[in-house]
Amino acid sequence: MINRPRRLRRTPAVRSLVREHRVRVDSLVQPLFVAARTADAGPISSMPGIERYTVEGAAAEAQVLHALGISSVLLFGIPEFKDAVATSNYDPNGVVQRAIAAIKTAVPEMVVIADLCNCEYTDHGHCGILTDRGEVDNDATVALLVRTALTYAQAGVDVIAPSDMMDGRVEALRSALDAHGYTDVIIMAYSAKYASAFYGPFREAAGSSPQFGDRRSYQMDPPNAREALREIALDIEEGADVVMVKPALPYLDIVRSARDTFEVPIAVYNVSGEYSMVVAAVERGWMERDRTVDELLVSFVRAGADIIITYFAKEFAQRHGGSS
Ligand code: PBG
Repeated sequence: MINRPRRLRRTPAVRSLVREHRVRVDSLVQPLFVAARTADAGPISSMPGIERYTVEGAAAEAQVLHALGISSVLLFGIPEFKDAVATSNYDPNGVVQRAIAAIKTAVPEMVVIADLCNCEYTDHGHCGILTDRGEVDNDATVALLVRTALTYAQAGVDVIAPSDMMDGRVEALRSALDAHGYTDVIIMAYSAKYASAFYGPFREAAGSSPQFGDRRSYQMDPPNAREALREIALDIEEGADVVMVKPALPYLDIVRSARDTFEVPIAVYNVSGEYSMVVAAVERGWMERDRTVDELLVSFVRAGADIIITYFAKEFAQRHGGSS
């Protein structure tokens, strides 16, 4: 027999020599939930092992992550109060603004990304401002996002990540950031963000469930693939530096076709439901945690992602300082 592919699988050293893809710890982004009120800090029941931090707690955690080799965090705020127009989101002294400043002071090298959306800050739980008919008003929402983004930039953020899925927001953000001198602030756009059931556990974590209806009028319809490429192309034209596909696991086909089509860095978001379903199966003894996490994360690299946003970032870094 001439062809014996098993020859290259015989020992760990040979397998390592011929390994095609590796997960780099420095390509992982750890999401952090930051609460304005100490009473809101603590464990998140829908995401065992993940917690909400106070601003000081988030800065301390950023130091721990940095020591493990993680170079970036993604911030979500749990504000003190909510109203119809997300006032607490553009407060220069809001929770995300304070967390940005605290983390940049504690660990200046940490790449701080701020998720930019309104659903954690509105009492109706939608991602934007509502019209009289209860629909999300695209252009009014974009203006609000710009206002908030400038306060994040003022606080020292490195990357703004709009996750609202309004049309035209990347262009509006780029021109406002530039006009105010923030030409170096990076835009990482949630470009192909689907209306997904996998965000379930996050909505408990961030207290951001819509009080009526759903997000299907702004997030993408799961059966669509070509539309994702169109959304990504538009965001690149509008000035996005990095584009994102979200969720990760059910959309690896989109990651692959985006990788083959575009030159910009591609991020994937391994979302809360993907985290919690693994943790739940492991808790029941049905799967092994470490092997499952490693297999999951390398699938994102194989699909073509450069940046992986995952709640498993810290534990992966704890197990593999460096690469695997
Ligand atoms: C805000 C936002 C959401 C997530 C990231 N940014 C929730 C949503 O769109 O409903 C989900 C993240 C996760 O599930 O881990 N719009």
